[in-house]
Amino acid sequence: MRTPLIAGNWKMYKTVGEGVELVEALLKGVEVGYVDDRQVLICPPFTALYPLAPLLADSPIALGAQNMYPADQGAFTGEVSPVMLQDIGCQFVILGHSERRQIVGEDDALISQKVTSAMEHGLTPVLCVGETKPQRDAGEAETVTLGQLRAGLGGLAAEQVRDVVIAYEPVWAIGTGVTATPGDAQAMHAAIRGALASHYGQSTADAVRILYGGSVKPDNIDVLMAQPDIDGALVGGASLQAESFLRIVNFQ
Ligand code: PGA
Repeated sequence: MRTPLIAGNWKMYKTVGEGVELVEALLKGVEVGYVDDRQVLICPPFTALYPLAPLLADSPIALGAQNMYPADQGAFTGEVSPVMLQDIGCQFVILGHSERRQIVGEDDALISQKVTSAMEHGLTPVLCVGETKPQRDAGEAETVTLGQLRAGLGGLAAEQVRDVVIAYEPVWAIGTGVTATPGDAQAMHAAIRGALASHYGQSTADAVRILYGGSVKPDNIDVLMAQPDIDGALVGGASLQAESFLRIVNFQ
């Protein structure tokens, strides 16, 4: 049984004061009962992680970062290590988001190192995969997505894979208001689970949570979550206001 996970990716939004305000509103709205059948995660920017951590301790909302560098410490100007994230109470880290692949130029080899390093430090990676519009139009959506999946998980032992969270985020659906149809999303999620089964065995594949991301909103979450292989959502824009994120957390 996979516990659904609703994750908010705040991206480069929210000062500390704005983050505290949002977290206080979320905590008011999230009833403790939710943790039994679903898990909630927020991933604020680095500057807000430390001040928000004490507000979230012993709450039903988990804390995650949006990136990290795959080394414990060292001369890596501008980077943040998994040890530092662990130290302040992060449990999750988003890795390989398409904005980092496209804007910062992260490649599969670096993302794979990050995934392995996160696992070694007890952080749960949320590994993002997904094709661009030209790739989908060229009929390469599955090849690209499964290639990123294979590369991202490549450094892990088989028994570690069951604890990883995968986020399928078609790049053309991110921040555009255009969501993949539930059928298209389900088809890719099934392909991802199929690839996991053939590499790591069915029981591992059945344990891995596969989130959908890309313009998830209050009005499409229910139909997405009704798909058998969609185990949650990675939410960008709609995670920035308490009302919309809470509605998504409260999917039917
Ligand atoms: P969006 O972003 O919900 O604003 O489309 C999702 C993401 O990039 O994780």
